[in-house]
Amino acid sequence: MLCLLTLLSLSPVTFSDEVSPKSTAPLLQPDLRHEPIQPLRPTEGLNPHKLRLGERLFHDLRLGRNNDMACSSCHNIKDNGADHHARAPGRDGTILDVNTLTVFNSSLNHRQFWDGRARNLEEQIDTVVINAKEFATTWPTIIGKLEQDTDYARTFPEIYPEGITADNIRNAIATFMRSLITINSPFDRFLRGDSNAISQEAKAGYRLFKTYGCVACHQGSNVGGNLFVKLGVFKDYFAVRGNPTHADLGRFNVTGKARDRHVFRVPSLRLAALTPPYFHDGSVTTLAEAVSIMAEHQLGRTIPGQDILRIVTFLESLPGEYRGQPLGHKP
Ligand code: HEC
Ligand code: HEC
Repeated sequence: MLCLLTLLSLSPVTFSDEVSPKSTAPLLQPDLRHEPIQPLRPTEGLNPHKLRLGERLFHDLRLGRNNDMACSSCHNIKDNGADHHARAPGRDGTILDVNTLTVFNSSLNHRQFWDGRARNLEEQIDTVVINAKEFATTWPTIIGKLEQDTDYARTFPEIYPEGITADNIRNAIATFMRSLITINSPFDRFLRGDSNAISQEAKAGYRLFKTYGCVACHQGSNVGGNLFVKLGVFKDYFAVRGNPTHADLGRFNVTGKARDRHVFRVPSLRLAALTPPYFHDGSVTTLAEAVSIMAEHQLGRTIPGQDILRIVTFLESLPGEYRGQPLGHKP
């Protein structure tokens, strides 16, 4: 409902392509300041020691039950912050219930996970620790193992007076997560006034993204991540796909309310160009197909192929850099 209201209240925003290039301009050009998508900014005020510790823990295989799984096993920071599976392999030959979300920019989402069941990053980390398909362990076990490591035993108390505790491990990893913002994307440079940062195709794609109404659900600096919406507003996605699963119930699994059946947190599209396959079930391989399904199921429209390609080109301008490097797979 909220998103349909937003949809109706959206005024068509126009902008000029003739803004003068000013790549170093700190402020948005006046006519782009009120756009529904805003540039990403690095998270300020993070403690660098906690961040570094969190980064190490993120890659530490000892967090897994048999010292065999780390956060980085499914979230590749050197690539897209996720993996390329439809649904990642879990422990003991299992397959995870849903497609892996990227950890980049996830701190900006109002809830974590497809169904929003974790209110914040700290809660999200707790679920990985106990999940039988993931770390399948307990905090005391993890703490016991980390205490054996002389470097952790020295470093933790230097940063946290209480030393190695579940709270502090969560806090360090969450601090690292909060640093994972992808800045300086071509689209953000465009928003900041560099009119040559993206192609005419991408500009046209952005206009279409607004006029078709995608922006009613995918908006803000993370281009999504701040609303709960039903998948299949105009057309039953699950009837078309078949093989219903428990995970398909989405937010219903969290609240038990009938109106939350098939409701999902609108995903961020910041890195969509780099994170195929698509949707919570990972069932769609290409971005063009995902866009077309969205138009049909969320907007009740069939979008012509040329417009789909323009929207895809716009989406390709959204991924930015991490530590000065463009994101994505490096051959
Ligand atoms: C075995 C694979 C696997 C491992 C290991 C794993 N994740 Fe994930 N991660 C996933 C999947 C799958 C999802 C989506 C789950 C869902 O939405 O229910 C996810 C979702 C997330 C999200 C939510 C992003 C968003 O936009 O809501 C964050 C943050 C995250 N993982 C961080 C971590 C951290 C930190 C660790 C280590 C403590 C970790 N993950 C370990 C597979 C994994
Ligand atoms: C009514 C709200 C709504 C509208 C309008 C909407 N979307 Fe979505 N979008 C969603 C939701 C919810 C999902 C997650 C669906 C799922 O997998 O459970 C999603 C998923 C996506 C994905 C897949 C992201 C991923 O990482 O798997 C893409 C791409 C996407 N939308 C693009 C678009 C485009 C382009 C438009 C306009 C043509 C659009 N959306 C319109 C709500 C919306």
